[in-house]
Amino acid sequence: MTQAGVRPDRLREHAAAGLDRARDRSIALTDAVDDDDLVRQHSPLMSPLVWDLAHVGNQEELWLVRDVGGREPIRADIDNLYDAFKHPRGDRPALPLLGPAEARAYVRSVRGQVLDLLDTVDLEGRPLVEQGFAFGMIIQHEQQHDETMLATHQLREGDPVLVAAPPPAAARPVAGEVAVPGGPFTMGTSLEAWALDNERPAHTVDVPAFWIDRAPVTNGQYQAFIDAGGYDNPRWWSPAGWEHRRAAGLARPMHWHVDGTYTRFGRREPIVADEPVVHVCWYEAQAYAAWVGRRLPTEAEWEKAARFDPATGRSRRFPWGDDDPDEQHANLGQRHLAPAPVGAYPAGASPLGVHQLIGDVWEWTSSTFRGYPGFTAFPYREYSEVFFGDNYRVLRGGSFGTDPAACRGTFRNWDYPIRRQIFSGFRTARDARPEEELA
Ligand code: AVJ
Ligand code: FE
Repeated sequence: MTQAGVRPDRLREHAAAGLDRARDRSIALTDAVDDDDLVRQHSPLMSPLVWDLAHVGNQEELWLVRDVGGREPIRADIDNLYDAFKHPRGDRPALPLLGPAEARAYVRSVRGQVLDLLDTVDLEGRPLVEQGFAFGMIIQHEQQHDETMLATHQLREGDPVLVAAPPPAAARPVAGEVAVPGGPFTMGTSLEAWALDNERPAHTVDVPAFWIDRAPVTNGQYQAFIDAGGYDNPRWWSPAGWEHRRAAGLARPMHWHVDGTYTRFGRREPIVADEPVVHVCWYEAQAYAAWVGRRLPTEAEWEKAARFDPATGRSRRFPWGDDDPDEQHANLGQRHLAPAPVGAYPAGASPLGVHQLIGDVWEWTSSTFRGYPGFTAFPYREYSEVFFGDNYRVLRGGSFGTDPAACRGTFRNWDYPIRRQIFSGFRTARDARPEEELA
């Protein structure tokens, strides 16, 4: 892997491996439950798992079989059912969806055609196929839905069905904050072959000096906020946050119980103090930050902390460098079904010593979701552009549920500030004081 992407002679192989890996995960997440669980809605926030499965196949048919391959439709009759913009998640169980067996057969037949055309398709001449982009986009799309399906599993009631090894222990404790020097850095990318439209183009942003937590906020730290009455004091909350906290009756992170346990994928376990807190909404993150006298980082601050190398002035693909993530760098890819304790990934730290920016938990930033200067929607407005504006907040870094294919230093996720069924946590930041200005 280079900064520009995959070596051209390995492109087809790399795409096929990425498609396989995504499909193995989709199958594991859907084979883990019975047909009744597959078609049921486990939360009004989520689609039935069987919708995600056929939707993944339908997007693959639309973009790869029909557009890239120029082939005949396989199931044009179902396009409408699996168009996310035509049916909100809450309405999907009532649709005449493909059943489990039909959905599985459908995604298999789409994939058969895609692997066939991948061998012969011309990967030059059209922006959509240049460097295999369309294949990368579809791999990332399936992996994103696999993370969404994992969030559905977390909301599902009943006996546990998913198993994974526990995350590694902390190598050494990591706490406190790090100074990030002020000045320009390169945000976003124009080189990364499979970067999505909202990560482009690379542009210079001048970020004043600031301090950022070395690690995500932990359960133990967050518990102190709860114990101090943080949920009962409007002083720490924005007006909209307080209104939501009251209306929704928030008192602790989602899936936490009063007795000091949380439920994870159907198992009730004691809350581990040095794990990053997860399943908090943006308003909760913002209130905690205010309580400790700090604030959430902006999106540009987060990316500078993650990518900026002060020795060279260059922005890296990942905090540790330009190499793709492996199991030493970060807790990604549903290898573990929990965030790892802070300090578990010293090899994944940034040059400035910021840990666990990638993996473990998505990190809320203070920023709304916008296009970068020079943004152009590609290949469709509905991936990013229709979500730009004040309604969404940006999350960065990926979670234990995110595959490396859908995660990098420039990758942007977004959601409503009230959402917490996603694997969302945060870290805090503050402005540098004048006497702390570092060149
Ligand atoms: C980028 C995670 C917000 O799930 O709504 C999936 C990804 N886009 N299908 C979402 C996505 C189209 C998207 N997020
Ligand atoms: Fe989708």
